[in-house]
Amino acid sequence: MSNTIQKNLDYKKYVVDSKLQYFKPHATKIEKTFAEEIRSSLNADLKFISPKFFYDKKGSELFEKICLLPEYYPTRTEVTILKKLQNELPSFLDDSFRIVELGSGSSVKTRLIIDIFTKLQNKIEYFPIDISEILTESSEQLINDYDNLHITGIIDTYEGGLEFLKDYDDKKNLIIFLGSSFGNFSPSDGYVFLQKIYSTMKPGDLFLIGLDLVKEKQILESAYNDSQGVTAEFNFNVLSRINAELGANFNLKNFEHYSVYHEKEQRIEMYLKSRADQSVIVPKSDLLLNLEKNELIHTEYSHKYRLSQIHNLLDDVGFELKHTWLDENKYFSLTLVSKT
Ligand code: AVI
Repeated sequence: MSNTIQKNLDYKKYVVDSKLQYFKPHATKIEKTFAEEIRSSLNADLKFISPKFFYDKKGSELFEKICLLPEYYPTRTEVTILKKLQNELPSFLDDSFRIVELGSGSSVKTRLIIDIFTKLQNKIEYFPIDISEILTESSEQLINDYDNLHITGIIDTYEGGLEFLKDYDDKKNLIIFLGSSFGNFSPSDGYVFLQKIYSTMKPGDLFLIGLDLVKEKQILESAYNDSQGVTAEFNFNVLSRINAELGANFNLKNFEHYSVYHEKEQRIEMYLKSRADQSVIVPKSDLLLNLEKNELIHTEYSHKYRLSQIHNLLDDVGFELKHTWLDENKYFSLTLVSKT
């Protein structure tokens, strides 16, 4: 039995209609549960909560709100660059490509990529990969809006989805990873993730990555400390989620949103700072958490890059640089690479 057939047997296929289908793993892989992860990360010497837990329904809505904030320049800047790509990306593509997106795109950004394909192909294939079932909502919206779009959603982790895609067929893939989401990985996890992407790609496949660039500290810090307090709400929401899902008794008023740019590490570091000595119980994690006044719970890194670092990083993994596009202020970058 070929590898491909074996792999597809591990997934259940849901066909909605001729233009929309999903693949979902039969059994969830043995991963730590939310309760277990919280137990170990809040028991660590330097307490942390993984940023992947931000994105429950409320957290995803708050992130959408962040993207529209005047201080949060990344989204609108990346959109400006994607508009510029309308004329320039086609020269790197032909009609044998499909779009594969890490994350499920309902956003204007995915649409801008689909618009480019609309000018090149009569039938466009789009494969979003996302662990969240929200993927089904965003896919249905897209199907309604584009007549010639065919969607195969993969409801799995990015790594699982990439593995599924490996040797799926002969069609060329343009893998897109936008929004500087890569910047939320630690440098070592990020490197491993890029290697995973590279190993999934066939010769001739392309990878387009959106990365935020190093800039003045004050611009960066206001993007993560907005005047309307939406980023703070986004940060606090992870505690509400732990209260709701793990039965904890975090009092949000006892925490402060703290977000700072470290020039040496080139990253925003986001924390929840305890306003007092306090104890919190997290019953489903079997955890009694003692926090001192001013103690920090780390919730996110958001790395910023220099162009030379982006090029070196991609080159180290083995990619071949095709092109980098920037906005006029050099705030954000989109880099296209290939596997040769
Ligand atoms: C999803 N990610 C790229 C955002 C960022 O800018 O690092 C998450 C975010 N955190 C606070 N504001 C936005």
